[in-house]
Amino acid sequence: MPENDKQSLSMVTCTAPVNIAVIKYWGKRDEDLILPMNSSLSLTLHQDQLKTTTTVACSRNFQQDRIWLNGKEEDISNPRLQSCLQESILWRLNDFDCNGTCTSMTSCSPNDDDDDVKIWFVLVYTLSQLFGVESEQLSAVARQGSGSACRSLYGGFVQWKLGEQLDGKDSLAEQVESESYWPELRVLTLVVSAEQKSVGSTSGMHTSVETSQLLKYRADVVVPSRMEEMIRVIRERDFPAFGELTMKDSNQFHAICLDTYPPIFYLNNMSHRIISLVHRYNQYYGETRVAYTFDAGPNAVIYTLQDHLSEFVQVVRHFFPPEVSGEEFFKGLPVCSADLSEEL
Ligand code: DP6
Repeated sequence: MPENDKQSLSMVTCTAPVNIAVIKYWGKRDEDLILPMNSSLSLTLHQDQLKTTTTVACSRNFQQDRIWLNGKEEDISNPRLQSCLQESILWRLNDFDCNGTCTSMTSCSPNDDDDDVKIWFVLVYTLSQLFGVESEQLSAVARQGSGSACRSLYGGFVQWKLGEQLDGKDSLAEQVESESYWPELRVLTLVVSAEQKSVGSTSGMHTSVETSQLLKYRADVVVPSRMEEMIRVIRERDFPAFGELTMKDSNQFHAICLDTYPPIFYLNNMSHRIISLVHRYNQYYGETRVAYTFDAGPNAVIYTLQDHLSEFVQVVRHFFPPEVSGEEFFKGLPVCSADLSEEL
């Protein structure tokens, strides 16, 4: 909702949702343009506590670009921030009433382990709204802030196509199905640790590209057919197949992290316990009712259907009582082969 006061100040506020990949992006073929080695696919989440809000103001009276993040002023010489701002300069110069100077204020959720993903995306998006830029150009610009951020441009299921062109013009996000396509689908986030990850996604994937043979195999052989299959099962609303593919893809991503030299450990004991719990739960019912996925950190994102949500939440509460610390929980959890029937 731009509030245009042509004489003095143009201002717009936007919020950006987070997206969680079910086919992971890991590895760049071009680090400057942020072009991925494989296509990826995610679901955009609309949880209030996970969204990022940015207000951008632009005025002839401002002397320089300035940015505040959660109330603290940021150094705008950060290269990624600069690449977003550079892109927006053209939009700004085209704007008759603006001399190219903007301030922005962003607030983001405290539990965000995606570091700058949403921040750069929402900044670019907000700038585009302020200057009336069409959305086709946005995916490429947001991508240059942070690769996976470009998928937040759309709601529902979104793929980020690998693209073929050297300049990356066809490496874009595209909606696969809208947010209303699968109304029974539910997402649960299990925050295992609010600590910052030890290896950031950008440097982690750089080391993986340099050292992991499994990454090349995944990009060339596994993902192309997996993307097709994932899109098919989403369109068929086939939860067991969707869940299985999601878990396998998360596991392969973390296998690549282990195959990286030196290895990267994003999952911790608690994450492993959640993985075991999900498999035991599914085994108990003889079908995939719940699926996990993990990004570059120990926190779990669980996909399930409305019918199974409350029971699974009860199971999680039983095994992960809030008052029990990680280590105590770890000792108390039954081994993977235990029969769940008594617990349910
Ligand atoms: C594990 O988008 O954070 O979340 O492009 O270097 O900023 P850069 O990386 P980033 O990587 C996200 C990796 C992931 C998987 C995914 O979201 O697809």
